[in-house]
Amino acid sequence: MNNDAEAALEVIQSRGVLDQVEVAFVLGTGLGNMAEAVENPITIPYADLPGFPKLTISGHDGRLVIGKLEDTTVAFMQGRSHYYENGDSRAMASPLETLALLGVHTLILTASAGSTNSSFYPGAMMLVSDHIDFNGLNPLIGVASDGGFVSMTEAYDPRLARRLKRAVLRAGVTLHEGVYMWFAGPTFETPAEIKMARMLGADAVGMSIVPEVILAKRLALRVAAIAMLTNFGAGFQSGNPNHSQTREVAAQGAIGLKRLLRAFLRTKEEAWIGTKE
Ligand code: HPA
Repeated sequence: MNNDAEAALEVIQSRGVLDQVEVAFVLGTGLGNMAEAVENPITIPYADLPGFPKLTISGHDGRLVIGKLEDTTVAFMQGRSHYYENGDSRAMASPLETLALLGVHTLILTASAGSTNSSFYPGAMMLVSDHIDFNGLNPLIGVASDGGFVSMTEAYDPRLARRLKRAVLRAGVTLHEGVYMWFAGPTFETPAEIKMARMLGADAVGMSIVPEVILAKRLALRVAAIAMLTNFGAGFQSGNPNHSQTREVAAQGAIGLKRLLRAFLRTKEEAWIGTKE
């Protein structure tokens, strides 16, 4: 663990967080208000937390909110850092290490994304089953010794995915499932890139999630990711994405996502068969 993560942990504890935090959520563009439902929230601006990002993008709040939701101690990161902000694919390393130090074992990432699947309409959500890291910007490049050889075979935890799918029934929302392909941004893709993404097997494209999943797997966190589909990819089904549309559609979809995440917390974990990694 690095010094920033330990220093951030001290700040968080000094603000009154003494319980183990079990589940953490990273909230993407337009989704930040999901943290409003947290009971007895302790809210800490990222600016007070060493190693947390300085946010530059509208639609991202820059606060850590910790409290109770559905009888679970949870943390919401309202806003994330993206590779395209400073060219650092490790930008989320310290915040994720801080969450691990708080005791978090389960990480649910959310982000807006463009659909590249003609059956997945804007406004719907997609559970990420797997990803394509097209950029060659793996955040573990340069990590000393053997620490970078992290298995990505089950990067998206199958048990968490099943629990989310059971929660869908309770929440009354639609959750597609598919492959997310990471583009560095900040430009949206060209129509030719979207065509390529479809040929390679992507159901959605976006500018986040992937480096966080890789960093979280290295910390042995169990990960799930939900993409809020805000548009069709550029040139596909007349898709022509822009940032304000992305924010607007994500904010509308946040209602369903909120229901899903609460239902997820109410849905019991399957019994564990085998050894815990
Ligand atoms: N491409 C990349 N990222 C996105 C998109 C998109 O079309 N929509 C929302 N985030």
